[in-house]
Amino acid sequence: MTAKRNSPVALIRKTTPFAIRAERASDVVAREALLDACFGDNRHTRTCQRLRDGRAPAAGLSLSAMRNDGRLVGTVRLWHVSAGGRSALMLGPLAVDDDCRGLGVGAALMQRALAVAKARGHGAVILLGDAPYYARYGFTAARTGELSLPGAFERERLLGLELVEGALDGAWGMITPTGAALPESLPKSKASERKAARTRKAPLAVPHAA
Ligand SMILES: CC(C)(COP(=O)(O)OP(=O)(O)OC[C@H]1O[C@@H](n2cnc3c(N)ncnc32)[C@H](O)[C@@H]1OP(=O)(O)O)[C@@H](O)C(=O)NCCC(=O)NCCS
Repeated sequence: MTAKRNSPVALIRKTTPFAIRAERASDVVAREALLDACFGDNRHTRTCQRLRDGRAPAAGLSLSAMRNDGRLVGTVRLWHVSAGGRSALMLGPLAVDDDCRGLGVGAALMQRALAVAKARGHGAVILLGDAPYYARYGFTAARTGELSLPGAFERERLLGLELVEGALDGAWGMITPTGAALPESLPKSKASERKAARTRKAPLAVPHAA
């Protein structure tokens, strides 16, 4: 274990630079593998997943961290929600490859995500996570005490950050998903209507970012 950590290969890996970019459809396999490794096979049963099932992430807010050898080493997504009647984004999952932790990949993903969210006019971000980690980005439980999630959760892990002052004022009640439904989650007839409409309007294949 120690030998591996101190080997030249490990040292090279630890100093390899990375870049943050918009998630691409081609990231899906590596991203799923990373999430399985970080959160385990039962990650789809987690309470926050109820806010993501069948929904598209918020536009421009699915990011990947790429090592310069082309390997995906980090991911974050944000999702539209109603936070007890207040429009907000739910952040998660955030994950960084075990091999690349402590290099600032998580910080780079968080900073880019929050900057993009602010630039796009979003007022607040909510997440379920470790307060000691997320405090460095300004997340606290100060504005989330009256909010609930659709399932079991630990109250002290429900954190919020206002990008616009007062965006979470009066936030009270259930956090519910409000993002666009994914085409495959629509009833079959609607999905095929949409597909036909897309084919009519856009005969050329367009790269799709999840
Ligand atoms: C949390 C995570 C995304 C951080 O990624 P990272 O690239 O290592 O983060 P950074 O390099 O930007 O920051 C590392 C710092 O965060 C701290 N940190 C990491 N996880 C932490 C946690 N759960 N609580 C408190 N601090 C934490 C490290 O100790 C380190 O501190 P330092 O800057 O004082 O040395 C990564 O550890 C991970 O993917 N963990 C597993 C999945 C997970 O827990 N995701 C978050 C959901 S709550």
